[in-house]
Amino acid sequence: MRSTSQGENGGSPHWTTFLKEFAKAPLSVGSPIATSTGTIKRQLDGVDWANTGLFVEYGPGTGEFTRYILAHLPRDAKLIAIESEDGLADHLRHTIDDPRFTVHTGSALQARAILGDDVVGRVDYILSGLPFSALDKSDRARIVEDAARLLNDDGEFLAYQVRRTIEPSLRKVFARVKRRRRWLNMPPYHLYWCREPKRSRPSNRVD
Ligand SMILES: C[S@@+](CC[C@H](N)C(=O)[O-])C[C@H]1O[C@@H](n2cnc3c(N)ncnc32)[C@H](O)[C@@H]1O
Repeated sequence: MRSTSQGENGGSPHWTTFLKEFAKAPLSVGSPIATSTGTIKRQLDGVDWANTGLFVEYGPGTGEFTRYILAHLPRDAKLIAIESEDGLADHLRHTIDDPRFTVHTGSALQARAILGDDVVGRVDYILSGLPFSALDKSDRARIVEDAARLLNDDGEFLAYQVRRTIEPSLRKVFARVKRRRRWLNMPPYHLYWCREPKRSRPSNRVD
């Protein structure tokens, strides 16, 4: 397994790749600096690593969260990432050599098609770094609704965001939404933890 180390906000060993991709697609990449190590720990400190079999990441960028996840994930678990920018997805393929990790070049809007039907209702965690405020309202809603379908009943949707644009979609789809401000990041983030997808139950269900 090969995986280069992560650094503090702005001190990532992958910062030149990040900056180059930001210059090419500023709206989509969303920030010129990767997330800080402290913020990554804060976002992921409630993850039940021992019982995690499938972790999905949207918008991994140069992989600061990705490497942290792989460092904690059980040996038989999987991490699947979806990254829209070719250059960033290729960077991850070239710098992370771990049989548990797969990266797809594509949009989180196509997550269900990319991940396949087998995965519906089986994902333990979905982490999103997508710049939701740069997306259409309908696309934001679709990504969150699809994520809720992909998660298992105990699953959790995690997101780090500069703005709170995504919050109404999160509250519509999840019964429990927790938000905390993370000032020690450049830029400061809103961190979200969302549980209990409001599933529509079949009316003839017998429990
Ligand atoms: C704010 S950056 C987060 C990068 C990194 N995870 C970090 O911790 O700093 C947003 C990332 O989402 C990617 N992205 C934007 N829109 C996307 C989409 N629709 N599907 C998948 N990835 C997308 C961008 O290319 C970029 O890598």
